[in-house]
Amino acid sequence: MSSSPEIRILTTPQELFEAAAEEVVHGATQAVTERGRFTIALSGGSTPKNLYTLLATNARASLPWDKMFFFWGDERHVPPTDPDSNYRMVDEAMLSKVPVSPGNVFRVPAENPTAAAAADAYERTLRDFFSLAPSEVPRFDLILLGMGPDGHTASLFPGTAAVEERSKLVVANWVEKLKTYRLSFTLPVLNAARCVTFLVSGTDKATVLQSVLEGDAPGEQYPAKLVRPTDGKLIWLLDRAAASALSKKI
Ligand code: 6PG
Repeated sequence: MSSSPEIRILTTPQELFEAAAEEVVHGATQAVTERGRFTIALSGGSTPKNLYTLLATNARASLPWDKMFFFWGDERHVPPTDPDSNYRMVDEAMLSKVPVSPGNVFRVPAENPTAAAAADAYERTLRDFFSLAPSEVPRFDLILLGMGPDGHTASLFPGTAAVEERSKLVVANWVEKLKTYRLSFTLPVLNAARCVTFLVSGTDKATVLQSVLEGDAPGEQYPAKLVRPTDGKLIWLLDRAAASALSKKI
């Protein structure tokens, strides 16, 4: 039974990133203590970049980098050298600066010209890493997510096929308004996690955030609303600007 979301409103974006860094350190410490390793799926976009920078600097000494395994919740259909690549963003902000062995980093093979083939390959990577049986879904220790002004999360955009997907773990999702494919985890993977943490910053997210957290519109209209871990924690880390339309204030 999914627990009710924890909504934390931080005064500034910097405080939001510090709170997120604490969640990563806490999650990593607990996972390594209980299971010997920490599996994390990273989000892309612009918001989490400062978190990754913090993890590679202030929080660096507090993290068990050799027992951490990195994945991406979604990726743009571009090579890892492309300025739009989520992998490249994370590598530049964090992975290239910390003692992580390449064997612990599982990026989406988005350079594959066939998006569906890239998605299938990444699904195989998940199935192999987590030693999954055919019907099983991987259980990440932590999945970081962002949210777009349209209520999309990962690359599950409103009105796209991927929002309905319930058997595949990773899909190539055609996003008409972007005229491109995106590679994305599906809802079954997001909702199987031990902890999902959203980072949402900025006034441009305020209206949709109010709809997602307090409105009664259907989840298909705002896919971020469909993220409800079945047996895990759901945390929304918001800055004051993003939370400005919520009835709950700080
Ligand atoms: C991506 C993301 C996407 C992102 C939102 C918010 O690849 O773009 O994974 O889901 O989290 O679009 O993006 P911003 O943080 O840039 O507002």
